Amino acid sequence: MKVIIASDHAGLELRRELVNALKELRAEVDDVGPTTNASVDYPDFARSVSKAVAAGDYQFGVLVCGTGMGMSIMANKHRGIRAALCTNELEARMARAHNDANVLCLGQRVVGAGLARSILEAFLATPFEGGRHQKRLDKIREAESENGR
Ligand code: RB5
Repeated sequence: MKVIIASDHAGLELRRELVNALKELRAEVDDVGPTTNASVDYPDFARSVSKAVAAGDYQFGVLVCGTGMGMSIMANKHRGIRAALCTNELEARMARAHNDANVLCLGQRVVGAGLARSILEAFLATPFEGGRHQKRLDKIREAESENGR
């Protein structure tokens, strides 16, 4: 499984924790920064990760900022990206099972490292259920086309 991960300055420590978790899970992980605590703009990092996932280069993306909100807002501007901001394992499982989410967003100021690891594991381990949920995803794709994304 190939995963790409990024954060802003407010998510840097949790991102590093999650890189370790991904390696322990034997995922192939590309960590695209940032490398220092200097202030950066989360949209830049959300864009890089979203483009790479939408292009099919990675199965999943992980984005961390202070709350996870800015990352999720920006990631969801990209065609083919279904980014889910998760604060617990149930949300992570549902985001995969029902929404086929392909980007997980987390907030370093919201969830601790242990919970974040559990959320990540639940997200990666849960398959999309398909069936009745697929036609709903088709409607999301239609909306993307209508809106010129
Ligand atoms: C940075 O201070 C903070 O605004 C950012 O990490 C994120 O929480 C935005 O949604």
